[in-house]
Amino acid sequence: MKILVVGSGGREHAIVWKVSQSSLVDKIYCAPGNGGTEVEDKCENVNISDIKELAKFAKEKEIDLTIVGPEVPLVEGIVDVFKENNLKIFGPSKKAAALEGSKIYSKDFMKKYKVKTAEYEVFDNSKEAFNYIKTCSYPVVIKADGLAAGKGVIICQNEKEAEEAVKTLMLDDEFNGAGLKIVIEEFLEGVEASILSVTDGETIVPFISSKDHKQIFDGDKGPNTGGMGVIAPNPYCNEEVLDSFKKDILETTLKGIKEEKMDFVGTIFFGIMITKKGVYLLEYNVRMGDPETQAVLMLMESDYVQIMLKALNKELANYNVKWKKGASCCITLASGGYPGKYEKGFKISGIDKVQNKVFVAGAKKSGDKLLTNGGRVLSVVASGETLQEAREKAYNDAEKISFEGVYYRKDIGVIR
Ligand code: AMP
Ligand code: GLY
Repeated sequence: MKILVVGSGGREHAIVWKVSQSSLVDKIYCAPGNGGTEVEDKCENVNISDIKELAKFAKEKEIDLTIVGPEVPLVEGIVDVFKENNLKIFGPSKKAAALEGSKIYSKDFMKKYKVKTAEYEVFDNSKEAFNYIKTCSYPVVIKADGLAAGKGVIICQNEKEAEEAVKTLMLDDEFNGAGLKIVIEEFLEGVEASILSVTDGETIVPFISSKDHKQIFDGDKGPNTGGMGVIAPNPYCNEEVLDSFKKDILETTLKGIKEEKMDFVGTIFFGIMITKKGVYLLEYNVRMGDPETQAVLMLMESDYVQIMLKALNKELANYNVKWKKGASCCITLASGGYPGKYEKGFKISGIDKVQNKVFVAGAKKSGDKLLTNGGRVLSVVASGETLQEAREKAYNDAEKISFEGVYYRKDIGVIR
C-alpha cells in the first residue's frame, strides 16, 4: 500500500513510524512532515498543505489510504473532498468533525444524547454573557466555540477574570471569529484522562488510556501548553472509572453518532475528567492527541493500518486491539520560553546517543544537522514493564539531548 499522512508534528512522526512497521505498507508520503518523518523508513516528505492539492497528489500517486493528523483539515472537510474524488481516507466527515470544531455543537450533542458533561450555557451576545457572569458561582470555564489552537478555554476564578475572558473572546475577537460565540460551563475538579479510540460509526473501540501533562511547569503550574508529556496507561483509569466512561460517555456518544447519521469513520478522542461526582466528558477531539499518540502507539502491538482498514470496512465489532504489557512515558523537550516567545534555529545534538525513541515535533533538517523549529521540539518515548522503568528510561535519554534553551518537565508520570 501507499499511504499519505497529513500533518507536521510529533503526532504525525509517531503515526509514520508505526505505519512504516506494517507489512501492508510499501511507501509513505508525509505532507508536509518534519525533520523526523523524512528519515523514517519508507517515508518521503512532500511540501503540500492545501486540501485540493493533497487530493490531486493522492490521485496522481495512487495513494491507497490517507491518514489525517491535525483537526484543522478535518474540520475544513478534507474527508468529504477525498471521498468525492473516490480516495480512501481515514477520518470523520465535515459534519462529524464539528464534534471538535464547534464547542456549542458538541455540548448540545452531549446534552441531547445524555453524555455526562458539565452544565453549560451558550452565548452569542456579549451583553447577555456579561449579565450571566454576574450570577455565576466561581470558578467557571469560558470556551470559544471554534478552533483556537488549544488556547480557546479560559478558566476564570472570579467575575473580573470572566469579564476579561468575555471581552477577549467576544469584543476584541482575539481568535479571529472563533470566540464570537461562547460556552460558559461549570468548573469540574478532578484528574484528567485522554481516551483515544477508533470508530467505524457502528462500534467504538477504545485504546489504552493515557495522561497528558498540559501545564508548562512541574506540579501542573503555569500556563497550558500543547502537552509536555504523557504516560500510558493512565494510573487513575481503574476498572470503575472505565466502566463509568463506557456507560455514561462511550455508549451514549455512539448512540448519537448513529442517530445523527454522522458517517464517522476515524479517531474519536475523549477528554475526560475523573471527579468525586463521577466521570465527565470535557471534550471530543476527532483526531489523535499530541503527545498522547507518541505514548499510546509505543504500546500498540496490533498493526495500526489494519485497524484503520477494519474501520473503513465497518468491521470493528468484536475487534480487539492488542497492547503490550507495561507502560510508556513520553517527555516533551521544548524551546526555552515556550509557550510564550522563543527563538528557533538552534542545533540539536545527542539524538544519536539515545536508546529509546525520539519523535520530532518542531525541528527541521539542514544538511546533516537538525535545528529547532518550533515550541515543542522533540518527544522522547520509552516503554517498560512498569511506569517507573519507562520513566527512568525516558529521562535518561532526555538528559542526553541538548540544544540552547532546552526545557522539559521533570515530573512526567509522578503520581501525587
Ligand atoms: P478542552 O479544549 O475543552 O479540553 O479544554 C482544555 C482544558 O481546559 C482541558 O484539558 C481542561 O484542563 C480544562 N477544562 C475544560 N473544561 C473544563 C471544565 N469544565 N472544568 C475544569 N477544567 C476544564
Ligand atoms: N494533548 C491534547 C490534544 O492533543 O488535544
